[in-house]
Amino acid sequence: ARGKADGARGLRFAPVAPNKDDKVTVPEGYAHNVVIRWGEPILRGAPGFNADKQTAKAQAGQFGYNNDFISLLPLGGAYERQQLMVANHEYTDEVLMFKGYDSENPTREQVEIAWAAHGLSVVVVQEDHRSGKLTAVTRHQLNRRLHTTSEFRLTGPAAGSDLVKTSADPSGTKVLGTLNNCAGGTTPWGTTLHGEENFNQYFANGGGVTDPVQATRLKRYGVTGAASERKWERFDKRFDVAQEPNEPHRFGWVVELDPYDPDSTPRKRTALGRFKHEAAQPRLTEDGRPVIYMGDDERFDYFYKFVSSKRMKKGKSRAAREHNLTLLDEGTLYVAKLTGDSPAEVDGTGKLPNDGEFDGSGQWIPLATGDVSHVPGMTAEEVYVFTRLAGDKVGATKMDRPEDVEPSPRTGRVYVALTNNTNRGKAGYAAADEANPRNANKHGQILELAEHWDDPASDGFAWRLFLVAGDPNDPATYFAGFPKDKVSPISCPDNVAFDPYGNLWISTDGNQLGSHDGLFGVATHGERRGELKQFLTVPAGAETCGPVIQDKRVIVAVQHPGEVDGASVEKPASTWPDGPGKIVRPSVVSVWRQDGRGIGV
Ligand code: FEO
Ligand code: CA
Ligand code: CA
Ligand code: CA
Repeated sequence: ARGKADGARGLRFAPVAPNKDDKVTVPEGYAHNVVIRWGEPILRGAPGFNADKQTAKAQAGQFGYNNDFISLLPLGGAYERQQLMVANHEYTDEVLMFKGYDSENPTREQVEIAWAAHGLSVVVVQEDHRSGKLTAVTRHQLNRRLHTTSEFRLTGPAAGSDLVKTSADPSGTKVLGTLNNCAGGTTPWGTTLHGEENFNQYFANGGGVTDPVQATRLKRYGVTGAASERKWERFDKRFDVAQEPNEPHRFGWVVELDPYDPDSTPRKRTALGRFKHEAAQPRLTEDGRPVIYMGDDERFDYFYKFVSSKRMKKGKSRAAREHNLTLLDEGTLYVAKLTGDSPAEVDGTGKLPNDGEFDGSGQWIPLATGDVSHVPGMTAEEVYVFTRLAGDKVGATKMDRPEDVEPSPRTGRVYVALTNNTNRGKAGYAAADEANPRNANKHGQILELAEHWDDPASDGFAWRLFLVAGDPNDPATYFAGFPKDKVSPISCPDNVAFDPYGNLWISTDGNQLGSHDGLFGVATHGERRGELKQFLTVPAGAETCGPVIQDKRVIVAVQHPGEVDGASVEKPASTWPDGPGKIVRPSVVSVWRQDGRGIGV
């Protein structure tokens, strides 16, 4: 029952109650520490953080801002108590970073600090031998920062196309920077994947474009308006669409990084399509080909998968690693179409149909394979660069913000977080359907997808809603049929991850139930399927990201703490993690059980 430490294996902890405390709250008997904060030095020569003396040079060697996705990879051998941590730095909150920030007139130094605070960090972390505590190993030789002026390579079928060439890069293959890396994934061949999400916000003057074809393309990706929010176009013309029309086409990709090789150039994989990539999570076919599931996080946008035509090679030989770094360049890109089996009974309120479930069948519609387009009227290059328009043409299903996705390592079923969609059912927008069953959807839902014959390369699937989020007392919520008096309230599911026992862990962004965001665990199979319990809450204004659930620790990224309307360095809404008088700092947190036993066992 609620309040007691029973539950499915891995979820035996007393749930944390909803709250608005400016701290990280964990279950009774658990402890936590801050692993690394924004601005802590990770590269040799980088200085310690000084809020009053920030420089771009310092930031380029320090942990970036707004940590989102976290991946932890093993470092074997002598380093058995160390792991390799890779973090996304989605965006910057200048008003919470700089005293007296003038959003109309940022200085060059502030802009260059923001460039250096975006991107990715690779940092080795050290395990404590008595607890789940983790600490950063600063200045380790594998530590690395990649940011807005680092070199990335475009690969795959749209690399080198006229659509991605610019005056600075006539080859169409060499991009400076990665932007707005949201969630991501970890591959079985030891690389990490990073979704470039809301890249549109960095580009100015999209609204002034008069060519109708170009204007349609820019608008579909939200590259509109005049000056950008951060005014980067004043300091580098590539952020001005009027001067460099193809530069936005070089963002919105999935980035693949080999974090074990500090000299490697990360790749932007064009075969996986261009949209507001939230995440990219692989599953292998029976014969070893990777299938990557991907959401486009925008209201009424689509859910995709990529099926590679190549098999992964096992082992750590150089030949195997080099081969595996080509897996995501050849294959077929698909978009999902979902059809409900009780269409007449979906009334937009969330009332369950008579068959007891929101469920139905699905179809994977092929968009392009290599140089071959499957979309009438579009070339393959156009399909990859303007993938949203391809989805529109083939009638893909408009979803309620497809965010993170995770295939269950136990069952192969794929879980997709659909965060919310308050425009659903409004005049001029699509109405509720069985997969997106609530109009004005504030709380979101989680879709469970089962590929035909359990084959991830299949062209069809069955689906049902696993959770319809909200206050369990609200009749329009559903917890896989589990009794609703025994679950925690949840709103706006965003990132998802599995623990070693096959439970799904869900972090939230934008809780609409009056509490701070947090992290939840839920059983996906067995008698307790649907029993959802809250594991932690985060400070004011923060979103909970990155979750990694290991045997003895839970890692979360506390993103944008203190991000509340009207807040600033001078008027903070949060002073986490260092307390009153200290600047708020996005940070990564590790949680463990004080008695040394496994999480939730
Ligand atoms: Fe960056 Fe869709 O959250
Ligand atoms: Ca149904
Ligand atoms: Ca997110
Ligand atoms: Ca995930």
